[in-house]
Amino acid sequence: MQRQNWFEGWRLFALLSLTLLALSIWIAGMRGFEVEGVRMVIRFTARTSLLLFCLAFSAAALARLWPNAATRWLRRNRRYVGVSFAASHAIHAAAILAFAVMDPEGYAAATSIASYIFGGIGYAFIIALTATSFDRTAAAIGARAWRRLHLIGGYYLLLQFMVSFGKRIPDMPLYALFLVPLLAVFALRMIAMAPRAEAPARAAQN
Ligand code: HEM
Repeated sequence: MQRQNWFEGWRLFALLSLTLLALSIWIAGMRGFEVEGVRMVIRFTARTSLLLFCLAFSAAALARLWPNAATRWLRRNRRYVGVSFAASHAIHAAAILAFAVMDPEGYAAATSIASYIFGGIGYAFIIALTATSFDRTAAAIGARAWRRLHLIGGYYLLLQFMVSFGKRIPDMPLYALFLVPLLAVFALRMIAMAPRAEAPARAAQN
């Protein structure tokens, strides 16, 4: 990968993940590291994960549809944005664990068997996607398996975000706004994948 400015590659990952960690500690600290602060961190990291996931999963489509310096930067760095998403979700997991230990009753009320099964599959994908985000591990599984894993994992996580935010809409209608970036990412990927209209048109002219 050709580095073109300071905010690229693993430096970008370090900057993003350390910032998220510092902000999470600050948020929990605002509530004296009590359970309310821990729950705020769970919600905060769910949202930072949403942002980073959407950027990583739409990077190729954006660069294809609107090639410019910003979209090329994003596509070049999508691996690091993706691994930063995993770091954000690692903080989500740590805060979930703290919530379970600090307030077992509240935790039991906020979770269900379904959240363990589907959330657990989500974490299994996050681990698999992160583990194969290094040159050596990506080469080890081969390009075809890598593409398939990252495609299936990406769409699974898209769905998981939809369900996790979507199920809160009846109580908090504004949560519908979280579905907008998810639907936009899906639409962008579909549009970018569609065969270019000018190709058959040009062929017809010849
Ligand atoms: C076994 C795995 C998981 C468990 C036990 C879990 C647990 C939780 C809990 C307890 C909350 C509610 C916090 C509160 O009300 O204070 C929450 C919120 C959330 N989680 Fe997770 N989670 C898991 C995995 C995931 C995964 C894989 C994703 C996404 C890919 C995800 C996305 C979300 C979202 C979007 C919210 C809502 C945040 C908000 O209210 O703004 N979770 N999770």
